[in-house]
Parts: sequence; C-alpha cells; structure tokens
Amino acid sequence: MRVGFVGWRGMVGSVLMERMLAENDFADIEPIFFTTSNIGGTPPVIGKETPALKDATSITELKAMDAVVSCQGGDYTKSVFPELRKAGWQGYWIDAASALRMAEDSIIVLDPVNKTNIEDAISKGKKDFIGGNCTVSLMLMALGGLFQNGLVEWATAMTYQAASGAGAQNMRELINQMGALKQSVASELADPSSAILEIDRTIAETLRSEDFPTDKFGFPLAGSLLPFIDTQLDNGQSREEWKAEAEANKILGTDKAIPIDGTCVRIGAMRCHSQALTLKLTKDVPLSDIESLLAEANPWASVVPNTRDDSLRDLTPTKVTGTLQVPVGRLRKLSMGPEYLNAFTVGDQLLWGAAEPLRRMLRILVE
Ligand code: HSE
Repeated sequence: MRVGFVGWRGMVGSVLMERMLAENDFADIEPIFFTTSNIGGTPPVIGKETPALKDATSITELKAMDAVVSCQGGDYTKSVFPELRKAGWQGYWIDAASALRMAEDSIIVLDPVNKTNIEDAISKGKKDFIGGNCTVSLMLMALGGLFQNGLVEWATAMTYQAASGAGAQNMRELINQMGALKQSVASELADPSSAILEIDRTIAETLRSEDFPTDKFGFPLAGSLLPFIDTQLDNGQSREEWKAEAEANKILGTDKAIPIDGTCVRIGAMRCHSQALTLKLTKDVPLSDIESLLAEANPWASVVPNTRDDSLRDLTPTKVTGTLQVPVGRLRKLSMGPEYLNAFTVGDQLLWGAAEPLRRMLRILVE
C-alpha cells in the first residue's frame, strides 16, 4: 500500500510520526513523503528507504497513492482534495483537519468507539476517513461506555482546553506569558516579607500591559483564561461548542441525536484537554455499574475513584500528558436526582485528540 504523508513536520504530524515509529507501522506500508515547501528534499528517517520529498500540490503525484494521510490543515484539504477526486482518484483520504468532517461521504474515525461504522463504511466503498475534533474524541473515549450503550439522554460539557489545541506557536506564547509574569515580580517574590497585594497589583498591570506577549492568542492566557474557542456562530455558540453534538452523534451513528452542549474554555495547560460533564442518563443506573461500563469500554479509558487524593493525583493534565490514557473520575450522582451524573475527564489532545485515530485508521486499511 503506497501511503502519501502530507504535513508530517507540523505538531500533529510529528506526533503521528512518533506514534507510527513506536508501533512499527511503517514496516507494512510504502511511505511517500510530500512537502509544500521543500520539493526534492530529504525525507524523514523512518528506518527504511523512501524517495525524495514530492510536491504536495501535484495531483499527478498524489494520484499514484493508495492512501493519503494529511495533517497539513484545512486550507490544504480544501484546495487539493476536490481536485484529486475530480481527477478520478479512488484512494483513501485520511485527514486530521475539520474541513471534510461533516461531509455526507466522510466518516469521522475513532475506532475504539465506532469500529463497526468504519468497517461498514469500508465495505460500502467509502474513501474519506476524517479525525474528529479533539474534545469530542476525548469525551467519547472516556465516556464511550455510557454513550455506546444508549444510556445518555443528554450531556453538557464544560471544557478546560490546552494551548496545543490552538497550535504550536500558542504553546510557546503561553510559556512566554508565564515567564513575563514571573519576571515582573521576581524580586518581590524572592522576598518572603513583601506584600502579596503589591505583587498581585503588578501581575494585573503586567497582564494588561501593551508589552505582554499576546500575538498568537490575542489575549493573556497565563494567569487568566479565555472563554471562547474558534469562531462565533449566529446562535451564540462557538464553533468548538457546536462540534460536540454534531460530531459526537456522527461518530456514534445515532438514529436520534443526543443533545450535547456546553461552554468551551481555553486554560493554561500545555496539551491535555479536560472536561467537566453533566450527563442526564436514560435511567437510574447504579454507580458501580456505571464505573464498570466506563472502565470496560476500551483499553484506554480508566476510572479514577472519586476521592480527593485519587483525583488530585490521577485526574490532571500533569498525570496524563504524553500518554494514551483517558481517565474519567469525579463520578457521582448529582443532587438533581439519580439520573444526573457528574464526571470529569482528561486526555492528551495531540494523541487521541488528533494523531492516534489517524494511525489506527491506516492500520485498519492495511490489515
Ligand atoms: N479545536 C481544538 C482546540 C483543537 O482549539 O482546542 C483541535 O481539535
């Protein structure tokens, strides 16, 4: 299988390369690397010979692939994909960008949750397999046990999203903002007898100053938060909030859409998205059954006991970052009634939120 890779040098692409190397995925395919800027350049080292970098805008070169995996972004997809199909290409298109997600012909891939739908689509000749939005994929990885068993009447997710979701440069800016804050009060901080309100005043001034580094986010994130992610829709939702219901129901292949809505917020974490959820269950399921369903849904979901110690130790971006684990905890029935469940989950948005579903989709096609 000749597989073309586009956008492998960016952040999601690099995570994909790391994961494919770790799982020895390149052994079973003939990888061809494409570029938009360095045609003829040296391909990445992946333990086997590959040709010089090819032109990612050349329909002729792309047409020779059995599958194309793109982490290049939505603009690339929008410009190249229609041309490639128009030219009669019948290969598989696997994409991290959102551009084609809701297209009728495409499947959103998250195989631990919707492998049956994926296999069904392949057998029906579908060719476009698109990775889901990170918060949606992480919510379904963590809470698949309830969603897949038809136990959710509706859900609301309040998110705490990491800087990486906005891009590599945004991660750098977050750290620069943290550094600028520390620097502005370094001497006062070193003096244990200095007045905390004085330090606080200086920090507020620094956050509001013209010089504070905000080119990427547009606003201070460190020492603050940003309660709007992605573009604004006419109904008052952010596009990130809209995706929850639209994409989750498409992934699950539900007949009757489950309402899912909430508020998406950017916080100063590096690459783990967290979500606090309220779920209205279709019936009063005992908590111990809920815990078993969640833990057994897939090998990466795990239940963190709802104690202070366990939650603070195991249910944080610090614990989860760089791993494939998607723990879910703070599980308890809310005071509204026995059908109302509280949950909190954390997941690495570059792994299950972006790269991992793509590499697993490729494996499904290879096997
Ligand atoms: N839209 C997400 C975010 C990342 O901004 O955090 C990509 O799914």
